[in-house]
Parts: sequence; structure tokens; C-alpha cells
Amino acid sequence: MLKVNRLKVLVMMALQAALLVCFSQLHTWNNPVKEKPAQTHILILSSWRSGSSFVGQLFSQHPDVFYLMEPAWHVWVTMRHNSARVLHMVARDLVRSVFKCDMSVFDAYMSEQRNQTALFQWEASRALCSPPACDLFQRSDIISKRACKTLCGKYPFVKVEEACKTYSHVVLKEVRFFNLKALYSLLTDPSLNLRILHLVRDPRAVFRSRENTAGELAQDSRIVVGHEGDGKEAEPYTVMRAICKSHMEIYTEGSCSLPSFLQGRYLLVRYEDIVRDPLAKAVQLYRFAGLQFTPHLQSWVHNITHGQGLGTEAFDVGSRDAVNVAQAWRKTLPYPKVAKVQEACKGAMEVLGYRLVRSKEEQEDMSLSLLHAQKSFAKPGEKRSSEGSPPASGSWSFQNQGTLWASTKQVKR
Ligand SMILES: *[C@@H]1O[C@H](CO)[C@@H](O)[C@H](O)[C@H]1NC(C)=O
Ligand SMILES: *[C@@H]1O[C@H](CO)[C@@H](O)[C@H](O)[C@H]1NC(C)=O
Repeated sequence: MLKVNRLKVLVMMALQAALLVCFSQLHTWNNPVKEKPAQTHILILSSWRSGSSFVGQLFSQHPDVFYLMEPAWHVWVTMRHNSARVLHMVARDLVRSVFKCDMSVFDAYMSEQRNQTALFQWEASRALCSPPACDLFQRSDIISKRACKTLCGKYPFVKVEEACKTYSHVVLKEVRFFNLKALYSLLTDPSLNLRILHLVRDPRAVFRSRENTAGELAQDSRIVVGHEGDGKEAEPYTVMRAICKSHMEIYTEGSCSLPSFLQGRYLLVRYEDIVRDPLAKAVQLYRFAGLQFTPHLQSWVHNITHGQGLGTEAFDVGSRDAVNVAQAWRKTLPYPKVAKVQEACKGAMEVLGYRLVRSKEEQEDMSLSLLHAQKSFAKPGEKRSSEGSPPASGSWSFQNQGTLWASTKQVKR
């Protein structure tokens, strides 16, 4: 009798144990999210004509990255009668949703019946050109915009969200933010793991490039200076003044006003430094993002910066010429204009390490390096997030290497 009871108890216990295992399994099936590593979010913060397409491609072609180029373009186009200041928060909230792969946020800006092509510059996103968004390429392929545009345009918009969720990194490029304060709530959002990559370029080169594309930029420029309402054309130096001021403020906030728990989440990178040594800078950028620089990607970066494969902007012509392209303004922008840009951007240029020229002769003297170290705001003993490789010798055709070496060392502590 006692024996039978004991058996009963044992059977009961075994059953309960089995049930427990079942339940615990059910439990994990119901909560797969907890097991998944959190996504990393990178915001490339830049301005128009500052080499951000190249940096964007560096991330977009990485097989772990879901990239979108300027999603806030849709905000500006839809609400173009507002100033940049007013649109800041709308753009910020759109960026937050996109980082979380919630693409319903685009319902406000697009028609109901839409496919991938409704997204601004969608073909610049390798993720929208490969599975699960488009089946005609591999995820690990380097995919050109042209090939993607031809083959992947018919896929439905729901694929954008589906694809986004399959990546470890979501990277967005924006030119429509003018200070870091607007982004604080993203930096402190516990559901995001946000890092900000701030890309700047010599304002004189930016100005020259903007002159060549003035028509395309006219509407954005009016929004930047808040003239959209009164329909006036934005005066180019006023636009430059606003853009330069924003870069100075972002850099100052990013390098000295962030609370300690956010330090290491901000990195400044100058276009001229990328042009000088693209591979070393790619190493630094991928490291900042927590991405691996695979041999395949190294080969691709080498190729595009040596005039092979699909190039973007200055890198269409190979790295040696890219250095010249970066300095082309010195030969083509008349000195009086240079002087006016410098006047508008003096503060930013000093802080970011772009040397002013005082005459036409200085401007055209290519033996004069115009690149200094950017101003350092780090308190003594404080660690900074930037860490790079030493500059490769021989790949640099600006003269006056002595100064440059000294300054690069100072920059990359
Ligand atoms: C996708 O969108 C583009 C642009 O609106 C349109 O031309 C094309 O016909 C659409 N394709 C499909 C299959 O809906
Ligand atoms: C780089 O170029 C070489 C030589 O043309 C080629 O064999 C290689 O596949 C290219 N790499 C990439 C990643 O495109």
C-alpha cells in the first residue's frame, strides 16, 4: 500500500517536472525578443555636399547593416512651409521609428498603395536590394544603385520593415539636424543603442559644391534659413553661416557637454581625413559602429578608392585625384567668395581645424596645408572615443606633411 502510494507520488512528480519543462519552453517561445541581441543604431549627421554619400555607402554595403539615406527628406518635402527648427522634432520622431524598424511612420508621407520606390533614394540601400527585400542579389554582394534600381523597384513597401528587422545594425544618414539637443531623447532612449557619427567638410569646398547644385538645394536652403514662408531666395552666405554654426554647436556639444554615460557615443570625422586615407578611416568608422571590416569589404574599399568599381563623389576618380578634388576649390573659387565664406564660417573653421587663407596667393599656394587638428575639448586625463590607425605614409599628396602628421597625432589620441 505504501509502495503504491510512493509510486503514485513519483509519477506525479515526474509529470510535474515534464510540465514544468514544457511551460518553460513555451515561455521562451513566447519571448524570443529577450534572447535576441539588441540592434545598434548609427546616425550619420552631416550636411549637403559633404561626402556623406561615400560614408553612407561604406555602411550600406556592409552585410550586417540596414541603411537608409535621409528618411527625413519626406518630412521636409511634405512640410516645406516650416523652418528647420520647427521640423527638428518631427524629423527626430521619424528617425526614432525608423531605427525601431517601424515603417508605418511613412504612412504620413506616402500614398497607401506603394512599393519600395516610394522611399527617397531607396536604391542607395543595399539592404533593399537583397533578401528579404529583393531576391535578385545576395546579401553579401556589393550592389550598385543602378543595378538595384533596375531590378528591385517592384517589391512592395512591407519588405522595407521586414528587411530592417533582420539586421544587427540600422544606419541612417541625415543632413536635417542642426544641434544635438534635438537628439538627446534618442541618445537616452533605453530601447535604442544610438551612436552619432558627425561628418564635416571644409566649408569652402562645401560652398563651391553647393554653387554647382544650387537649383536642387534651393528649397532646402529656404527651410534652413526659415524663409520658406515668405518665399524669398536664401542668400548663399546666410545658408553657410547657419550650417557652419550648427556644425560648431554639434561638435562642441558632442565632445564636451554630453553626460559621462553618453561619452563614446559621438565621433567627429572630417571628409578630408577620409580622402587622405580611406582604408584607415574605414577601420575607425567600422570600429566605432561595432562592425567587422571583412576582407571582402577591404578589397571593395581599396578598389573604389583606387578608381575601380562603383565610386561615389570624389572617389569616382581614384584616391590620388580624390585628394585633388577635395582641394579643387582652391583653384576655382574666386578669393572674394572664399573670404565671404570664411567670414560666415570663421568660428566653425577654427574649432574644426580648417585654416583660413588671407590672400589669393595663400589660397593658391598648394604647399600650404589648410588642415589643422580640430580643437580639443577633452578635460585632462579624460578618454575620447576617437581611436584610429596611424596615417599611412606615401598616400598623401598635400604638401607640408610635418604639420599634418603632428596634427593627426593630436587628433587621434
Ligand atoms: C512601383 O512604384 C513605381 C513608382 O510609383 C511604379 O512606377 C511601379 O509601377 C510600381 N510597381 C508596382 C508593381 O506596383
Ligand atoms: C577588387 O578588384 C579586383 C581586381 O579588379 C577584383 O578581383 C576584386 O574582386 C575586387 N573586389 C571587390 C570586392 O569588388
